Amino acid sequence: MSTNAFLVIEQSLGLQGKASIHGAKNAVLVIMASLILTQGKSILHNVPCSDDVLQMIKLLRQLGAAVNYYQENSVLEVDTTGISNYKVSHEIMKKMRASILVMGPLLARFGRADIALPGGCVIGTRPINYHLNNFAKMGVDIEINGDFLCAKAIQLQPGTYPLEYPSVGATENIMMAAVLGKGTTRILNAALEPEVLDLVSILQKMGAHIEILPPATIAIHGVDQLKPVDHAIMYDRLETGSLLVAAAITGGSIELPQAPAFAMDIFLMKLQEMGHSIEVGPHGVGITLKAAASPRAVSFKTAPYPGFPTDLQAPMMAAQCLAEGTSVIEETVFENRLLHVRELQKMGAQIQIEHNKAIITGVEELYGSPVIATDIRASAALVAAGLAAKGTTTMAGIHHWKRGYDALELTLAQLGAKIEMKFIEEVHENNEQDIMPIQQIPSIELN
Ligand code: UD1
Repeated sequence: MSTNAFLVIEQSLGLQGKASIHGAKNAVLVIMASLILTQGKSILHNVPCSDDVLQMIKLLRQLGAAVNYYQENSVLEVDTTGISNYKVSHEIMKKMRASILVMGPLLARFGRADIALPGGCVIGTRPINYHLNNFAKMGVDIEINGDFLCAKAIQLQPGTYPLEYPSVGATENIMMAAVLGKGTTRILNAALEPEVLDLVSILQKMGAHIEILPPATIAIHGVDQLKPVDHAIMYDRLETGSLLVAAAITGGSIELPQAPAFAMDIFLMKLQEMGHSIEVGPHGVGITLKAAASPRAVSFKTAPYPGFPTDLQAPMMAAQCLAEGTSVIEETVFENRLLHVRELQKMGAQIQIEHNKAIITGVEELYGSPVIATDIRASAALVAAGLAAKGTTTMAGIHHWKRGYDALELTLAQLGAKIEMKFIEEVHENNEQDIMPIQQIPSIELN
């Protein structure tokens, strides 16, 4: 017997009110990994309670760190003095792709990293070739035995490492590997996502010498040691975007005082093009959205920052399903990131797929339906669609939702959404026909 959860969503027009945002999932995970570079007790604020964070806590403990998480005030204390292990088990690695981000810090601290390869999935394996090829160029000897990888380096070599694509994870991993040691390392065509810059800022607080050189080079001047720090994780632009879409699609009006508008220009521009009113607070912090009565369809294509974020493609697609006109959405970052289309179609959306493009013709109404979330951001898209759809939507695949968000259903409920997490006891012989066998759902660990 195992316990499974569903989200049950009823039509909830006109979300209204003020809500808080959590710390950014994509910043906190890499920042937690970066603490391996220090010895001593660091304190992180704004740490969201998502399943990926809980998994990263397990990983750090497995390496020998002492970790205390005070969920009530979102504070995480990590004492890395006792880290003596450089091996991460398969059990931890397969649950969270972001665990690959400990490879750089472990190599910098121990010259060794023994890790299981991150889990594959039904639609194919996510490559880590940019990470491994550049570590090899830095002098790391990498041996792969089955699904286990042993990496060793006597000394990491500084140098100039161009990335053929500005991969977020590869940029972060190379930067963390290069930060301790001699000489200058340059990452060309580096990813400059706001979460990468939050990592740069904590590394600088630790005492690292890092420069960002236009147009997209990160120069790292090695130092002998780094000190523990106190750091507040940036607010989550992707949680912000998910909430804004929920308000827009339900014709609502919400205020998010902490929202990092400064990191969301293209996304906010597209909401405005749809006709929604957006007001940004002083210094680019805080967003108020008032939804248009008849939003217009807009087209966009995803791209590395500052382009339209791939992580908001799925939620924004949900908004296009009910907009007036036709929208063309091109996914250029992850080829396989259109699995939510099939689920939106179940709700009555008119969407055609041509290669990596989705062509959406706005409809008058969506209808509640049983749907399955296939990745974190697909879950946000389906919830938004469910809030606007007539009737009841039940969403399975909740582990994605819980990996990426800290109880977003409660935030939505505060804004007036009729949304509830329900638990069922899944018993093999159970004969409840309305319960989906969620273990067989194809899914992707995209985030
Ligand atoms: C991070 C984010 C994820 C976001 C993505 C793009 C975290 C924990 N996750 O993922 O939410 O959607 O950035 O903004 O921060 N690639 C390769 N080889 C590699 C690495 C990547 O081919 O070695 C490809 C990927 O398959 C993808 C593209 O490069 O097509 C971008 O991936 P990348 O920027 O590395 O994403 P992640 O760091 O995995």
